[in-house]
Amino acid sequence: MDPQLLADPYPIFRWLREEDPIHRSDLGFWVMTRYDDCRHVLIDKTFGQGDFVKNIQLFYDDSFDVLANPAYAWLSRVFVMQDPPTHTRLRGLVAGALSLKRIRAMEPRVRELARTMLAKLAEQPGINFIESFAYRFPTLVMCDMLGLQENEFSDELLTQLNQAIADTFPVFETRALDTGELALANRQMEFLTAFFDDLFERRRAHPRDDLTTALVSAREGDASLSAEELSTSVIGLFGAGFETTAHMIGNGMYLLGTHPDERAKLAVNPGLAPDATEEIVRYESSLQATYRTALADTVVAGQGIAAGDRILTIVAAANRDRAVFAQPEAFVIDPRAEKPLTFGGGIHYCVGAELARLEGRVFLEELFSAFPDFEVDAHGARLRQAFLFRGFEHLAVSL
Ligand code: HEM
Repeated sequence: MDPQLLADPYPIFRWLREEDPIHRSDLGFWVMTRYDDCRHVLIDKTFGQGDFVKNIQLFYDDSFDVLANPAYAWLSRVFVMQDPPTHTRLRGLVAGALSLKRIRAMEPRVRELARTMLAKLAEQPGINFIESFAYRFPTLVMCDMLGLQENEFSDELLTQLNQAIADTFPVFETRALDTGELALANRQMEFLTAFFDDLFERRRAHPRDDLTTALVSAREGDASLSAEELSTSVIGLFGAGFETTAHMIGNGMYLLGTHPDERAKLAVNPGLAPDATEEIVRYESSLQATYRTALADTVVAGQGIAAGDRILTIVAAANRDRAVFAQPEAFVIDPRAEKPLTFGGGIHYCVGAELARLEGRVFLEELFSAFPDFEVDAHGARLRQAFLFRGFEHLAVSL
């Protein structure tokens, strides 16, 4: 949480990658920064999630009652924190709604949302782009996906839901939260649970042709799926669907505002929008890292790792590994064959990666086609104080 480190973590990532790629941190876990090592840990089945309570107690102490906190109790059930077979069963619930075919079918609606929202933004020069577009656009896409109707939410409610996720997701961070942060995360988790339980109740009483109804019916037809698992998975999907994508869009806007030559390339060649999206998530990943537990004694790049050890895989550092990427420390919009590790790998590979890519591409295409002269106030930009979820809290934009 060192503000200087948060402002620019890349020099220390580089130092670690070159000098101490399998670093044993004083914080009690291993830190990996090279592409091959991070990928190894993410895809090798010797690594998984392991003992949730023990993993969280590592940041507090052994007497910390992890599951007495609603926000951690929720995290303990989210499927990204599970090993097979629970992971397989719960991921299967939502994977169909995010298949490539379903995502392709969503494009016209995603485009219409981007177009309407950019037109609205153009009427408010200098407004905070993060709140008014970067969060709102993917949130509305998630509402659409879940089947939330416009008469079921207001602007204020969406803002509250966005804030509730932002206040709860720090439980993913690899550190102890302070008392205030933890109390807030717990309160906000209760708010999210009440909101979604109420939605499930409405769909149970009045089924519709939407994902929420399908999930509620899946629960009724499947005794192995508990009400808590259903609610946990939907809150997780909803939050994961905008918390990282919002900052992909915000970071992208900032990068275009600060790299006029790259911006000019995109302006003359909108066909580069998919490559630009890929470069934004490589260069300034909105999710900087993820983690695993060694399930057995093992070795990574010659270093012995004991069963039960925690490993932080810093994908944002792996994305700048010169062993894999040419010009790793420069933001360059060109087609690249190499894929960043931003969306992870192995069985937990981001189930929403194609949706995120679609949103990134469509946003850029609509921005450059309607508002090529957009202005970004890079000097007034303010980064949020978070390590794992990297992005801005304030970024003024005029279209
Ligand atoms: C730029 C945007 C995004 C980034 C950077 C991102 C990144 C990631 C990463 C790194 C993982 C793997 C975590 C791990 O292995 O521990 C992951 C998993 C996941 N992501 Fe994303 N994600 C993004 C967008 C989305 C979207 C749009 C959705 C939903 C619509 C989503 C839903 C999920 C879910 C449910 C998982 C858990 C998958 C599993 O455990 O099997 N993500 N994401």
